[in-house]
Amino acid sequence: MNLTLKIWRQKDSKAKGQMVDYKVTDISEHMSFLEMMDVLNEQLVNSGEEPVAFDHDCREGICGMCSMYINGEAHGPDRGVTTCQLHMRMFNDGDTITIEPFRAAAFPVIKDLVVDRMAFERIQQAGGYISVNTSGNTQDANSIPISKHAADEAMDAATCIGCGACVASCKNSSAMLFVGAKVSQYALLPQGQVEAVDRVKNMVAQMDLEGFGNCTNTGACEVECPKGISLENIARMNREYLSATLKG
Ligand code: SF4
Ligand code: FES
Repeated sequence: MNLTLKIWRQKDSKAKGQMVDYKVTDISEHMSFLEMMDVLNEQLVNSGEEPVAFDHDCREGICGMCSMYINGEAHGPDRGVTTCQLHMRMFNDGDTITIEPFRAAAFPVIKDLVVDRMAFERIQQAGGYISVNTSGNTQDANSIPISKHAADEAMDAATCIGCGACVASCKNSSAMLFVGAKVSQYALLPQGQVEAVDRVKNMVAQMDLEGFGNCTNTGACEVECPKGISLENIARMNREYLSATLKG
C-alpha cells in the first residue's frame, strides 16, 4: 500500500503544533500500525529529518502506552485493540490517514504524539491499591472465598490498561471509565473493603483536581476502550461514592 499520512508535529509542550504530510510506500497489510510508523521514522532519519515521537512499550496490547488518535478515533478504526495491535489491513491503498495525539487538557502534549498521562498515575496513587501484609504472614488466597461472579467482574474491571482512550474519546474529557474500573476492581472483592470509603472519595477528588470533565452518559468511552471496560463500572463507582459520602 502507498499511503499519505497527516501527522501532528509539535516540538515540545510549549511550541505551537501543526499537521504535516508524509508519504509512505510499500506498506504491507500484515504490518501493525506502529511498524508502519517505524517505516516512516526510518525514512525520516535516513533523510536527516527528526523522527515522529510516539509512545509504545509492549506492542502487544498490555502496557497502555500507545496513544494515537487515528482518523478521529482513539486507537483507530478497529474495535477492542490498541494502536499497537491495529493492523494495516484495516486501511486501503491510496488512503490518507490522520494521526493526532490523545487530546485532553489533563493530558498535555509533550512532543508530537506523546502526551503526559501522569494524571492517571496520581489518581492511582490516591487510592488504587490495597494494604496487604507482605512480611511473610501473607494469608492464603483460598482462605477468603469469592464468588465466581464477583471474581469475573473484578477481573473484567482489572483489565483496564490505563491507556486514556476513554478520555480522548469523550467530548467532556471525562476519566470516569478509567476511575470506575480502578474503583470497581477492589469494590467487588473482600480485600478491597477495608479502604473502600477512603479509596473512592480520594480517587474521585484527585480526578476532579486533575481537570477531567464530567460524564454525561454519551458512551463513546465504552465504544473506543480497547479492553471493553463496561459503563457499568461508572455506575458502580457512583454508587460507591454516594455510599462513602453518606458514611461521612
Ligand atoms: S477504561 Fe479502557 S480506554 Fe480507559 S484507560 Fe482503561 S483500558 Fe483505556
Ligand atoms: S505498546 Fe503496549 S499497549 Fe500498545
